[in-house]
Amino acid sequence: MIIEILTIFPDFFKSPLQAGVIKRAIDAGIIDFRTIDLRDFTHDRHRTTDDRPFGGGEGMVMIPGPIFDAVDTIRAAGPAPCIIMLSPGGRLLDQELARSLSEKERLVFICGRYEGVDHRVVQGCADMELSIGDYVLSGGETAALVAVEVITRFIPGVLGCDTSAENDSFSTGLLEHPQYTRPREFRGMSVPEVLLNGNHAEIERWRRRQSLKITAERRPDLLKRAALTEDDRNYLKKLGLWSES
Ligand code: ADE
Repeated sequence: MIIEILTIFPDFFKSPLQAGVIKRAIDAGIIDFRTIDLRDFTHDRHRTTDDRPFGGGEGMVMIPGPIFDAVDTIRAAGPAPCIIMLSPGGRLLDQELARSLSEKERLVFICGRYEGVDHRVVQGCADMELSIGDYVLSGGETAALVAVEVITRFIPGVLGCDTSAENDSFSTGLLEHPQYTRPREFRGMSVPEVLLNGNHAEIERWRRRQSLKITAERRPDLLKRAALTEDDRNYLKKLGLWSES
């Protein structure tokens, strides 16, 4: 997958991409990652990317010219990109959306800064607006990093095991069960007995039930959308954590 990030802060992406899963995927050639400096598409001495808002008000707004010029250059070479404008007003990123974006051949992220971006960028340039949560960041860069990490986890070969992202919290529709490793006893806390007995069916059942309980307690909204079996529902009823409504 080709990933291009349009930003006035290309250096922002240097160190996060030099670690962990994303670095390995870049090194393995699974992801071709590039940052594009928006200021390279300005035409004045000060390399201006923003201006005062029409109609007045505080703050500055990013001008459309450099963004459109950069996107024209991007479109002119290589496969057709999906152009994503990061914005708190965009579609909320979740596992399902990340999985579908992971199937694209080429993604371009436009990072806004200042108080906003001229609306014509959304009208005439971007294929979609994307938000990573109901809060406001100082710019799209942090959001782009989050999106790149979430999306690329679904690309085959990026994680050690191709199916891992499918088993993550949310991908199953439920939060993940607790995990333990050695030592068996730690500061008075012990590993649940069931995980030590080697009975895999029993372990799977315990894990499923832990997931159900944790999700019901913390995120009942997720439980409503999850695919549950009769056995799941009976277990939740027994705990008093299931309502038919
Ligand atoms: N830019 C500022 N806040 C944002 C958010 N929550 N998601 C995506 N882009 C943003």
